[in-house]
Amino acid sequence: MTSTPQTDVVGSPQHLAAEDPTWWRQAAVYQIYPRSFADANGDGIGDLQGIISRVPYLSGLGIDAVWLSPFYPSALADGGYDVADYRDVDPRIGTLEEFDQMVAALHAEGIKVVVDIVPNHSSDDHVWFRQALAAGPGSPERERYIFRDGAGDDGSEPPTDWTSIFGGPAWTRVTEPDGTPGQWYLHLFAPEQPDFNWANPEVRADFLKTLRFWSDRGVDGFRIDVAHALTKDLTDPLPSEAELDAIPRGEGQHPIWDRDEVHEIYAEWRKVFDSYDPPRTAVAEAWVERHRRPRYASAEGLGQAFEFDLLTQEFDAAAFKEVVVDSLTLAAESGSSSTWVLSNHDVVRHATRYGLPPLADQVGSTEQDQKQGAAWVLAGGPEDQLDREQGERRARAATLFELALPGSAYLYQGEELGLHEVGDIADDARQDPTFFRNPGVDKGRDGCRVPLPWARTGSSFGFGPGPAHLPQPQWFAEYSVEAQDGQQDSTLELYRSALRLRRQLQTAETLEWVDTGRDDVLAFRRPGGWVTVTNFGTAETPLPAGEVLLASAPLRDGQLPGEATAWIRQ
Ligand code: NOJ
Ligand code: CA
Repeated sequence: MTSTPQTDVVGSPQHLAAEDPTWWRQAAVYQIYPRSFADANGDGIGDLQGIISRVPYLSGLGIDAVWLSPFYPSALADGGYDVADYRDVDPRIGTLEEFDQMVAALHAEGIKVVVDIVPNHSSDDHVWFRQALAAGPGSPERERYIFRDGAGDDGSEPPTDWTSIFGGPAWTRVTEPDGTPGQWYLHLFAPEQPDFNWANPEVRADFLKTLRFWSDRGVDGFRIDVAHALTKDLTDPLPSEAELDAIPRGEGQHPIWDRDEVHEIYAEWRKVFDSYDPPRTAVAEAWVERHRRPRYASAEGLGQAFEFDLLTQEFDAAAFKEVVVDSLTLAAESGSSSTWVLSNHDVVRHATRYGLPPLADQVGSTEQDQKQGAAWVLAGGPEDQLDREQGERRARAATLFELALPGSAYLYQGEELGLHEVGDIADDARQDPTFFRNPGVDKGRDGCRVPLPWARTGSSFGFGPGPAHLPQPQWFAEYSVEAQDGQQDSTLELYRSALRLRRQLQTAETLEWVDTGRDDVLAFRRPGGWVTVTNFGTAETPLPAGEVLLASAPLRDGQLPGEATAWIRQ
């Protein structure tokens, strides 16, 4: 396995020297969902000035980088993942000048900046899509997207019966400039997110321009949305949905997903990344078969890929160990470092997932393996099914386990507060298209996107001087930063201690499993003499000899209680 040199200037902003091209390999990256992080002007929507005002908080937290979900102009049909202009800031969030100020403020604290690139689809508000509609069938403008004539005698049927990821048909019919019903365009996600035609060199060139635009502004890296869907083989006759589903996804020849030639795009992007010093980094969001992931993460490609398998597991020793062993093997294959994720803006927060009944007992969710907690959200978030304390206890243990692993950890805003999913958002307050497009089947992802509580009181718990764009429950008060700041047993202080220690402890990207004699207790040793013990069971367990550096729960007579993790220096 590849190793990284030990940092000798620990705990100070300089620990990530600008010239260190490997900064990303074991970075703790904090995901900011800009509209819900901090609101400076009181309009209820988080903004760049809000982020700037919280740079001291981010610095004190001890993270190495922030990743910003889209802050670009957007009609918000999909929380900003419907981008109307890739090279600007949504006026409700700020300006380019404020973006530069934010980057400077973060860099001054040694925090790197990663931005989200959404290349599979734009917003239907994007100037190119508007031009495509105005220019009509057969025009070069339409060639930037995926337009087809409809099926049936009069073209009134969609070209295929494909369903979009968000539910409903994957094709939408347009009205031609002369007012007649016209062609159909493909959208793998919402109708407001038309898919680009990546066979068109203009599309390719435009994204290279976007990558340079942000790199020139000092952005250190990129998170690539739906990285496995860009290239498509849509030669006629198009397959039906049933035929499409029958085509294997792991061989690089599926018409839509994970085609081999997508890597030609990333090879081009790599040249752009490497033309900067230090090279810009990228992490792929690629929901592909395991054996296909290393290529996205290779040094010739994006360089790193998300590992989501940990977040789909129950709190279980064998399941966690299997994922870690597998992921480290895959990372070694690609030459990249592994990535760990427990929460993000698309899934039920992990404090809540771990507080729900076992998956097998959760009814109503069709894709249970990827949608833990979805049934609970669908049921309106009943409190009597959620054991908050168990969820938080396990979440703290899982987080200390995660932060001790070799590789980078991607943290989602609010998880450092032990924040739970908001399960009872009223239907008329919801925003996520997955709710509107799947009535009665999916309530969507708004519950993990509720604006953060910074204070116990105030119109939006300190999120801003005004309201919050999604309703915050009363229980946010006790999870607020104000309520936890300086409280030694709080989740916030645990994250701060863990992140500070992690900087001192991380060395070579290897681990060695230690036999614990118990199926429900995992232990591993990292180079440099520290051991992590996680007790997934409920009975206490003895700890190996050494100095206890940190524990997710108070020890009892020197023993690690159930559902807890400890870091020990030996
Ligand atoms: C993945 C993003 O994480 C999600 O929020 C978004 O809805 C889809 N990609 C479509 O862009
Ligand atoms: Ca605002």
